[in-house]
Amino acid sequence: MKKIIAVDGPAGAGKSTVSKICAARLGYTYIDTGAMYRAVALNNLELGIGNEELTEDFIKNIEIKLDEAARVFLNGREVTKEIRTPEVSRGASDVAKLGFVRKKLTELQREMARQGKVIMDGRDIGTQVLPNADLKIFLTATVEERARRRFEELKAKNFPADFAQIKKEIALRDKQDSEREIAPLAQAEDAILLDSTDLTIEQVAEKILELAK
Ligand code: CDP
Repeated sequence: MKKIIAVDGPAGAGKSTVSKICAARLGYTYIDTGAMYRAVALNNLELGIGNEELTEDFIKNIEIKLDEAARVFLNGREVTKEIRTPEVSRGASDVAKLGFVRKKLTELQREMARQGKVIMDGRDIGTQVLPNADLKIFLTATVEERARRRFEELKAKNFPADFAQIKKEIALRDKQDSEREIAPLAQAEDAILLDSTDLTIEQVAEKILELAK
């Protein structure tokens, strides 16, 4: 059985949903690295500061924690719901460009994966954070399908949602995440490509579980 599984891919490909399912079935811990970038972005928004005002020291003093149930804590306060707004999505993609932010979060992520039996999802897990992962998946889907999923997700949570706007924001975030200089979104050479456009969540999870065996 593969002990460390890395799942990367663009926004809305279904990484977190299938990773959660696989983690539950394997008895592994699910680690959502995007949630950590989101927590930094939320902190910025709440304090009304931008990337220009962030320093390495400031970032070092922010405490970000994920618990077993994938709840997210920022300086001891639970922010699991607050980090899911489109505003925070944009902010996360912005702070994710900064080398010192990535350095701190990458260290935390490696520490969290140390005990093994983890599924970690993000953008740079197979390429930078855990290059020695036992199994690497690169999960994608068309931008149209990913926007549709995000639209449904926001509606289900009663957040206001506009399909055209979501599609535009996802395309912009794809571009920004793929083109940044440090740790861009990329498929690792030894990652297995899974296109989830025409697959159900259950089908994608089954495929990953088969590969994990
Ligand atoms: O859930 P969704 O796919 O929309 O995004 P996420 O996984 O929560 O990540 C939010 C943002 O954090 C992404 O757009 C990336 O810019 C950044 N991120 C990153 O740079 N590296 C990671 N390992 C995870 C997320």
